[in-house]
Parts: sequence; structure tokens; C-alpha cells
Amino acid sequence: MSSVQQQYEYASHGETDTERLAAALGRLAEPGSVLTLEGDLGAGKTRFSQALAKALGVPGVVNSPTFTIIKEYEGRLPLYHMDVYRLTEAEADELGLDEYFFGKGVTLVEWASRIEELLPEERLAVEIAHVEGGGWTERRLTLTPYGERYAAWCRELERDGLLRLDSSGREG
Ligand SMILES: Nc1ncnc2c1ncn2[C@@H]1O[C@H](COP(=O)(O)OP(=O)(O)OP(=O)(O)O)[C@@H](O)[C@H]1O
Ligand SMILES: [Mg+2]
Repeated sequence: MSSVQQQYEYASHGETDTERLAAALGRLAEPGSVLTLEGDLGAGKTRFSQALAKALGVPGVVNSPTFTIIKEYEGRLPLYHMDVYRLTEAEADELGLDEYFFGKGVTLVEWASRIEELLPEERLAVEIAHVEGGGWTERRLTLTPYGERYAAWCRELERDGLLRLDSSGREG
């Protein structure tokens, strides 16, 4: 049996819009929160990560952990920033990622679809896409909450007028 997975849309007209959404998510984050981040080159993943980190009270600069795979930062909550682009699922499995996912901090996983099988069931998926014909600055962010905790976040952001429920849904 398949169910329809709720999805939410956010139209970003420039990097400050992307940062605004990431900051709002950073304020909602709790110990054990997991967010996944997808998007092609230059979509704004790093901008998003930096704004999320700032909202978590992480001082200083956050860059993509492409070569280190996992970087830990101290903020209001710890931030575990992962980039699994270069990993196979088997290699990622060796890292014992559950320690992060179910730990005291907030985990942000870039290119998470590469390790689909290892992801926790409950998570918030964020996809950033260039908008065709939208020039340099237009992006569409699609948020898919897996689990009630993240569904509640999305409903809250929808009430605040930040997100729009995409009624077309997705088979999941
Ligand atoms: N709406 C927008 N949201 C985010 N970034 C935007 C937006 N409009 C323009 N930009 C610009 O796009 C660039 C996004 O770069 P960023 O490094 O965040 O992308 P990335 O997804 O991390 O790319 P890569 O896959 O190469 O690491 C920045 O230069 C930013 O200023
Ligand atoms: Mg990047």
C-alpha cells in the first residue's frame, strides 16, 4: 500500500530568502533533529547550511565538509554537518552514523540520497532547485517531512506563511 507524502513549497527569490527558511528551521531544531539537503551545483546548499548553523548559535564559518565528510560544531545545540557525496553506502555504514542521527545535536546531511538506506525513518528532506527561466536568484525549495515531528514543523511554518502545502503530493 502506498500513501501520499505531504510536501511543502517555498519560493526563494534570492539568498536572503533561502537563509530565512534555514534560520526558521534552525530555531525549530532539537536534539536528534535530522535534515537532509539535496540540490545541484550552486543551488544554495552551503548558503542554507550556514544560515542553519547561525540560527543554532554556531560561531564562525561553516563550509561544506566534502573532504572531511563530517564536521562538528558547537552552538545552542551541536551541529553535525555531513557531506556524503564521496561515500558509498557501505563506507557510510562503517561510520556509525546513527551516533549522530540519534545524538544530542542536529544533523544536516548533504547528498543524503546516496545513503538512503542508512537514513533514519524520521527526517526532514529539503530539496533546493534552480527555477527554469528564473535567472540567477530564483530557487524552489521543497520540504518533505517524514514522521510527525517534522510534519508539525512544516504545519507551523505554513501557519506562519513561510511554506505552502503542495496539494499534488508525492507517492511514498
Ligand atoms: N535564492 C538563492 N538561494 C541561495 N543562493 C542563491 C540564491 N540566489 C542566488 N544564490 C547564489 O547562489 C550561490 C549558491 O552557492 P552555494 O555554495 O550555497 O551552492 P551549493 O549548493 O552549496 O553548491 P555546491 O554544490 O557547488 O557546493 C551563491 O553564490 C548565492 O549567492
Ligand atoms: Mg556547497
